[in-house]
Amino acid sequence: MLSIINSLGLVGLNGYLVKVEIDINRGLPTYDIVGLGDASIKESKQRVLSAIKNQHYNFPIDKLTINLAPADIKKEGSYYDLPISIGILSATNQVTMPKEKISEFAFIGELSLDGSLRQVKGVLPMLITARNLGIKKVVVPFDNANEAGYLEGLDVYGVKTLEELILFLNNEKIINPIENVSYEFVKANSVLTGDFSQIKGQASAKRALEISAAGGHNVLMIGPPGSGKTMLARAFPSILPDMTFDEALEVTKIHSIAGTLDKSQGILTERPFRSPHHTTTTVALTGGGMKAKPGEVSLAHNGVLFLDEMPEYSRQTIEALRQSLEDGTITVSRNAQTVEYPANFILIASMNPCPCGNYGSTTKECKCSPNQIHKYLSKLSGPLMDRIDMYIEVDSVTFGDISGEISEEPSKDIKVRVDKARQIQTERFANAHGQKIYSNSKMTTTMLKKYCKLDAVCNEMLKIAFDALKLSARAYNRILKVARTIADLEGSENIKREHIFEAIGYRSLDEKYWI
Ligand SMILES: Nc1ncnc2c1ncn2[C@@H]1O[C@H](COP(=O)(O)OP(=O)(O)O)[C@@H](O)[C@H]1O
Ligand SMILES: [Mg+2]
Ligand SMILES: [Zn+2]
Repeated sequence: MLSIINSLGLVGLNGYLVKVEIDINRGLPTYDIVGLGDASIKESKQRVLSAIKNQHYNFPIDKLTINLAPADIKKEGSYYDLPISIGILSATNQVTMPKEKISEFAFIGELSLDGSLRQVKGVLPMLITARNLGIKKVVVPFDNANEAGYLEGLDVYGVKTLEELILFLNNEKIINPIENVSYEFVKANSVLTGDFSQIKGQASAKRALEISAAGGHNVLMIGPPGSGKTMLARAFPSILPDMTFDEALEVTKIHSIAGTLDKSQGILTERPFRSPHHTTTTVALTGGGMKAKPGEVSLAHNGVLFLDEMPEYSRQTIEALRQSLEDGTITVSRNAQTVEYPANFILIASMNPCPCGNYGSTTKECKCSPNQIHKYLSKLSGPLMDRIDMYIEVDSVTFGDISGEISEEPSKDIKVRVDKARQIQTERFANAHGQKIYSNSKMTTTMLKKYCKLDAVCNEMLKIAFDALKLSARAYNRILKVARTIADLEGSENIKREHIFEAIGYRSLDEKYWI
């Protein structure tokens, strides 16, 4: 007796169809799984056997062969407990739904020994694949069902136990597919933590972060402890433009695979804000390990990666950021297989200016020796510093600012300006979306030539800065990109002197700290 059940697998962010074939023959009772399954799949035997028995069905005392096709892709995870069980129960006529009706379904799910279904990772990308393949109905664990709420054209059934599913397939129980929710509705109901209106003073840091948000520029904030660097970074997502549905779906896919989605969260509507600790391992940052999990750089995709106290991170960790900063993607390999995850984020980093924190302060004395300061700063490698567009000095807030009654501008007002500048960029790069270029920070050299034309005076200013600050070619390009964003914020078609001047200002720490 043979039965074939549809299921799905995952490579990187993409799902693929898996056919679970179950062949039951007379003979010594065995349970063989073929088709490149990993250890968790091989262990399905115990879960499937116990689940079937504990839900009061019969497990056949026969020779069972289970094939996961296609056999040339390594499959991992415990997704196949459910399709294997359904296959066994269908081949033994305990599931009475005709085979051609069952083939309209795909099944994904891990079983507990008692027969209840457990939440699994990566359901959303698999559901998208099912829909693209024309599968109309998918059964998933109840705790994953919210991930299906945003996909139209697909009936997704969330079930709690194996028995519940069998009653449903045997027409003895009604289960309704998950209702669709509108993305606009959830988005409107989400709350953000941190708002610029809660931060007193710090006008120049706020201005710099507005430019960063408007053009997607990476930022390093330098200032003494307690000056509000962490607070500013946390409020930063509140001035970023809203995610489009497609961006949200991509972010949610990554978090679905990483298992960082809460079961109540169907879709992530806010741009991610990730702040991995400085003791984070390189693998946790970039992704990989046994299961090629997405790392922090991918979890921060379409959002913010915040490295607080940057010199505390190991050089190796910092160097590991280079690929994603350059390409917006990261390659993760395991088992001779490589997968690519998106990793396009705005980097916000913060640091004290020296080990004691007071170097450069006008009010407090720095107790560090030049050697100590040099050692501290030398941890930030040149190549990484070159990938940061703006350095901002954040001074301690004054008593006047903190005690003042002046009300600060709320994030939503800043966001209006950011959105306008982004709109200009969306039109500018309309033909470059294939190259994944949406913001000024990602402009290629050809684009720089086209969109950052300077008049003679601007050119001269930049030349003087280039020599005086001993800038690298990369730093030069970054100044142009930032100047372009400043011009966009003003709605100015041309880059003017004041734009170049301000952009150079965000590099001038080069002189004070690195040379
Ligand atoms: N500009 C500010 N407005 C309001 N509170 C501030 C400001 N700057 C600092 N604070 C307060 O000081 C605390 C420490 O700030 P924090 O962001 O952790 O500083 P840093 O990261 O620079 O060491 C904050 O939690 C906040 O309560
Ligand atoms: Mg801090
Ligand atoms: Zn010091």
